[in-house]
Amino acid sequence: MKNTIIWESPSNIALIKYWGKMGVQLPCNPSLSMSLKASVSRFELTYSPKKDGEKDLVYLFEGKENKAFEEKLSRFIDSVANDVPCVRKYQLKISSSNTFPHSAGIASSASAMSALSLCLCSMQEAIDEMEMPKDFFFKKASEMARLGSGSASRSLFGQYAIWGDMEGLSNSSNYYAIPYENTIHPTFQDLQDTILMIDSVPKKVSSTAGHGLMKNHPYADARFQQARQNISDLMVVLEEGDFNKFADIVENEALSLHGLMMSSNPSYTLLKPNTLVAIERIKNFREQTQTPLCFTLDAGPNIHLLYPKSKEISIQDFIKQELIELLEDGKYIQDGMGNGPNRIK
Ligand code: DP6
Repeated sequence: MKNTIIWESPSNIALIKYWGKMGVQLPCNPSLSMSLKASVSRFELTYSPKKDGEKDLVYLFEGKENKAFEEKLSRFIDSVANDVPCVRKYQLKISSSNTFPHSAGIASSASAMSALSLCLCSMQEAIDEMEMPKDFFFKKASEMARLGSGSASRSLFGQYAIWGDMEGLSNSSNYYAIPYENTIHPTFQDLQDTILMIDSVPKKVSSTAGHGLMKNHPYADARFQQARQNISDLMVVLEEGDFNKFADIVENEALSLHGLMMSSNPSYTLLKPNTLVAIERIKNFREQTQTPLCFTLDAGPNIHLLYPKSKEISIQDFIKQELIELLEDGKYIQDGMGNGPNRIK
């Protein structure tokens, strides 16, 4: 008996950043992200009863062996074996691919860990011959994905998602993310995200190591408080539609994240000179033309340019005239807000 399950799940970009963790992958502050549309991981999981002497997991990335990621997935599967006990009895063959390049400023761990969690939850349903209620299914997948990578917990939902306990939001949790269900102003209902490729060299300090440096960080408490303030302010802005206030909060989050890296011990810098030049040009363009656009940054030098779909044409012109010369081989990736994961098979 052999069965195959396929899920596609998106990456996400945090507007309010998760930076610092405690316990078993629990965040020190709530974060809020937007799920992407085009940047997805596709996971194909085939399972068959385990035979003696067979490997538990065989993994291929884009058709090729990748031992380092295979080991990471294997550790992840062990860590969720209590949630999906079926994994103990079957051999898993997994192959995955991404629609976006590596080290482009798009979190592949978020899309990958969420897609794999979905495959494992679907496998458990198939083995048990039952269907979990939809809300429960995604909550469970989010909780599992969190163990693989914190930010992956938010990729289970379309549009905006929140991960982390938040005062005043009774269903929020440190254990899993929830879809953001408050009213969203039309300005923020179809945000575009152009990812500007400043530099694609793999980063020298992983996000996991960066989170670790928040443990003894002199600004840690102030940071967690700042994130709480920013997330509640952002929720008001998302409802009211003021793009300038949105830009203030989102850019403050991005630069605070990098400020924390620069003031860690040991300190490090992931921004490149052209990141700073591009940020200046983005701010000037916004001021001079009153065009609603702003930037955010992941843990890397590449820029996510955010703007409403209605401004697409003028912003594409701006990119071509003022930003493209700052980009590695003139490259950028066009994306925008997406509707969450899709089961393909
Ligand atoms: C800067 O989720 O990649 O992108 O939980 O150790 O896998 P691990 O870290 P990860 O950290 C993401 C950090 C961030 C901000 C964010 O996505 O909220």
